[in-house]
Amino acid sequence: MNPQPSPKSPFRSFFRNWISFAGIIIVLASILAFLLLITLDYFAEDDSPYLGVLTYLIVPATLFFGLFVVFVGFLLQRRQMARSKTGEISPILSIDLNRPRDRRMLGAFLFLSLFLFLVTAIASYQTYHITKTVQFCGETCHEIMKPQYITAQHSPHARVECTACHVGPEAVSYVKSKFNGLRQVYVALKGDFKGPIVAHDKIQINQKTCEQCHWPDRYVGNRDRTFNHFLDDDDNTPYSVRLSLKVGGGDPTHGPVGGIHWHMNVNNKVEYIATDEMRQKIPWIRLTDASGKVTEFRTAGFKDDPQQHTIHTMDCMDCHSRPAHHFRAPNDAVDLAMSAGRISTKLPAIKKAAVNSLTKEYKTQAEALQAIAATLREKYSGHADVEATIKEVQHIYSIYFFPEMNTHWKLRPNNIGHKDSPGCFRCHDNEHVSTDGMRTLGNKDCNQCHTILAEGRGEEFEKLSSAGLTFMHPEEGWDDLNCYDCHNGSMDD
Ligand code: HEC
Ligand code: HEC
Ligand code: HEC
Ligand code: HEC
Ligand code: HEC
Ligand code: HEC
Repeated sequence: MNPQPSPKSPFRSFFRNWISFAGIIIVLASILAFLLLITLDYFAEDDSPYLGVLTYLIVPATLFFGLFVVFVGFLLQRRQMARSKTGEISPILSIDLNRPRDRRMLGAFLFLSLFLFLVTAIASYQTYHITKTVQFCGETCHEIMKPQYITAQHSPHARVECTACHVGPEAVSYVKSKFNGLRQVYVALKGDFKGPIVAHDKIQINQKTCEQCHWPDRYVGNRDRTFNHFLDDDDNTPYSVRLSLKVGGGDPTHGPVGGIHWHMNVNNKVEYIATDEMRQKIPWIRLTDASGKVTEFRTAGFKDDPQQHTIHTMDCMDCHSRPAHHFRAPNDAVDLAMSAGRISTKLPAIKKAAVNSLTKEYKTQAEALQAIAATLREKYSGHADVEATIKEVQHIYSIYFFPEMNTHWKLRPNNIGHKDSPGCFRCHDNEHVSTDGMRTLGNKDCNQCHTILAEGRGEEFEKLSSAGLTFMHPEEGWDDLNCYDCHNGSMDD
């Protein structure tokens, strides 16, 4: 039974050769892998944009390779046919099951194909798991994502997979993240990326993302927080503030509605316009309350028709802008290390020296680490604690400063407070007035959002007041300005 091609379909017979046959197997295996990956990816609980790289880039590439092999087989066979003068078709692939050689060939071929399918299936599944892991996200595009990867490891969300936040729960964000993943690979491969990466509308993070784990109805109540600072004098004088933050809640079933999480009240909606990319300038706000009453607040300088601008609805990230990637300001990082005893407070004016060594301009992390060591070693030569201190300051640099990617605290403001950047005072600044002139979003009452329980140096800080103290700034002349007019997280304030 030597299968002779029917004269009606000479074209088909061009593909009857072992090479094309192998190509067809590769094509089928790729299709199988593609279907498997798509199904896995879609139905699994959490998924990775980077799996898209595999599903939509590598697997199709293999598919095209298979098609190419089929085509090569076709060309070779056509050449062979052209050579045979009769023009008669002598297919390379003629299987005669009576011939032991053919039986063996076919057997081996079937076995190999099955094996290939099996390996494809297992490999797809394994790859799927690998792409989901935290290491994969941060380390694959090593340099580019280093800042985000490292900061995530030092955040309260260190144990949360990157994809839990970076791929939203809806199908639309799933598809978008695929294309985003592809674009990111393209940028990484081009290799000319200078950073910083900024989160435009690219990443699909919204309130729904956070609500997969956090229940917005939860009543938090008051949160007791202490901010330990050290002044920039020779003695590194400790100066602390202890606040009871009135976080409150937004749902009346679980506690009184009010406090900071009031903005998240299920019944009211806060919308705003921002005139810069990082949303630090907010000239217009619209509040729609439970009864449907609308109040607009605007700054005196803003005369535009709001409809000309994009109107954002306030969500978790408008305050929690750094849930996973907090690039701590040098002042805060050094204060924290000092209060934890990792930087010796016995070194004279170490607060100032450490912060200054962190905020000089460096081109690379390596250069910075060397310069930090050299500066501090020279300044404190002979002091017992100098080496440990150098190590700690270098550590701070390596987890919060990324000169190669142009990434540091100033470009990544934390909106939760109001000291180093406007934060809450983007809206609560005494300048946003309602259209009827009756209401102002103020901040003169320092115990509105938090109660100042204790503050000051040494013994001063021991006195507690549950009614709330009047703020006592370490230096005079602060009250007519906003905190962030002077403070910016470093020493040049
Ligand atoms: C708790 C949620 C959360 C987790 C977990 C998380 N991120 Fe993010 N990520 C964010 C938010 C919010 C932003 C936007 C804020 C910003 O600009 O940093 C962001 C921004 C980024 C950006 C810049 C975005 C862009 O496309 O411009 C990158 C890159 C990034 N994250 C990578 C990672 C990596 C890698 C991990 C895991 C190691 C991770 N993230 C884990 C919430 C998260
Ligand atoms: C996959 C689940 C998950 C997602 C998604 C998630 N979180 Fe969290 N978050 C957690 C867990 C778990 C903790 C508690 C960590 C702990 O206490 O060890 C936490 C803690 C927090 C805290 C308290 C941090 C602190 O300093 O104590 C805040 C604020 C927070 N998350 C905000 C967010 C925001 C905003 C988002 C959306 C961008 C988000 N989370 C998304 C799981 C998640
Ligand atoms: C108006 C600003 C604002 C908005 C909007 C906001 N938060 Fe908060 N949230 C805060 C502040 C301030 C704290 C207290 C921070 C601290 O403890 O240092 C806080 C605390 C938290 C905590 C810690 C609670 C605890 O038990 O300690 C979680 C979790 C949290 N927020 C989640 C969310 C989520 C999820 C959303 C969106 C649904 C959200 N927040 C929206 C300002 C806000
Ligand atoms: C986008 C603008 C905006 C931002 C940013 C913002 N708020 Fe508000 N906030 C409002 C508006 C509008 C109101 C309602 C004022 C009114 O009803 O007169 C409000 C009301 C409040 C209230 C009173 C809630 C109540 O019980 O009635 C508190 C407390 C508060 N904000 C705290 C904060 C804190 C803390 C931050 C920063 C973490 C912050 N806000 C950031 C717009 C904002
Ligand atoms: C709109 C709400 C709001 C108002 C009004 C407000 N604060 Fe705050 N304040 C906050 C929040 C939120 C934080 C940061 C909490 C955090 O980091 O988790 C904070 C933090 C602070 C801190 C600690 C910062 C640090 O790093 O040491 C001080 C001090 C402080 N506030 C003083 C004041 C003073 C003084 C006033 C009055 C002029 C004031 N606050 C008014 C919301 C407010
Ligand atoms: C006129 C400029 C100015 C303004 C406005 C200002 N500060 Fe300060 N602040 C200073 C100076 C100068 C120091 C002393 C710095 C030092 O010795 O380290 C200081 C120190 C502090 C400290 C203790 C040390 C430290 O580094 O954190 C806190 C806390 C503080 N200020 C909070 C605030 C808050 C909150 C506001 C806004 C309500 C504010 N300041 C407004 C200039 C200012």
